[in-house]
Amino acid sequence: MIRTIDRAIHPPGLKVTGRSFDNIADRFDDTRAYPTEVMDLIIRNLSERLTTGGRYLDAGIGTGRFAEPLQRIGFDITGVDISRRMLAKARAKGTENVILGDICALPFQDKAFEHTMSVHVMHLIADWRCAISEIARVTRGELLSVGFYKEDSEVEEFRRFYLDVCRDLGHEIHHAGVMERDLPEIIKPDRDETLTRHIHPVDVQTMIDNYETRTFSDQWDVPDDVHEGAMDALMERYGGLNQLISRERITLIAWRAERLGALSPDQTKTVV
Ligand SMILES: C[S@@+](CC[C@H](N)C(=O)[O-])C[C@H]1O[C@@H](n2cnc3c(N)ncnc32)[C@H](O)[C@@H]1O
Repeated sequence: MIRTIDRAIHPPGLKVTGRSFDNIADRFDDTRAYPTEVMDLIIRNLSERLTTGGRYLDAGIGTGRFAEPLQRIGFDITGVDISRRMLAKARAKGTENVILGDICALPFQDKAFEHTMSVHVMHLIADWRCAISEIARVTRGELLSVGFYKEDSEVEEFRRFYLDVCRDLGHEIHHAGVMERDLPEIIKPDRDETLTRHIHPVDVQTMIDNYETRTFSDQWDVPDDVHEGAMDALMERYGGLNQLISRERITLIAWRAERLGALSPDQTKTVV
């Protein structure tokens, strides 16, 4: 069932339009982990959408967080990513069919895949409309994504505090593209279903360490002096605390590809 495509070499002239996760590949799985029951729920819901028995694409597959368990069940999934080191991690976990490539220039024929999934990727791509159009080109059925909605919580306050201090020190943090969780406001989905609300304690020292070492992509462009100032402020406010509560709503979002194909590169209005 699973074919092996072994082309993880840098294609000559690969155009890179997103943020490669090469520099975080070693720590990605540890710092983005969800409990087994949450992952199982997401995988079960994704697998219920992948019912047609065809080929599927994971655009921005990363370390294979979603593709690898789905392949293990028997789904024929090909993954594309611009990060050589994330793909190496995926392979080390047993993920097959991984290709180094850019979502904005997918090396596949029109309608090559039944469905495409793309999770936590569009915020990294400035020309995300082009990425969505390209996914629509190679997909017959649906684009599937998982939305991670950060609800008001102590952990969200921590995150906002870092952003606010950076802004006060002269650096406005923003994502290059758009978070998948915000896409439904721009392109109305065909399905947007809450899977669970994930409420859990987070160790404060671990959060401080993750921020200190710039684990999150929105920190990568923060100038050193601003980052140091924000870390001092975080330490003053949160150092010595043990745990903070995190609240997240996790959703499964689906758009029919034929509707996404209509998205022009400069589209700014809601597509209904
Ligand atoms: C936050 S990770 C998410 C990985 C995986 N989808 C997951 O949820 O675990 C984002 C991934 O998108 C990749 N990426 C960013 N821009 C890309 C592009 N233009 N084409 C392909 N991959 C891209 C990064 O290298 C990284 O592996």
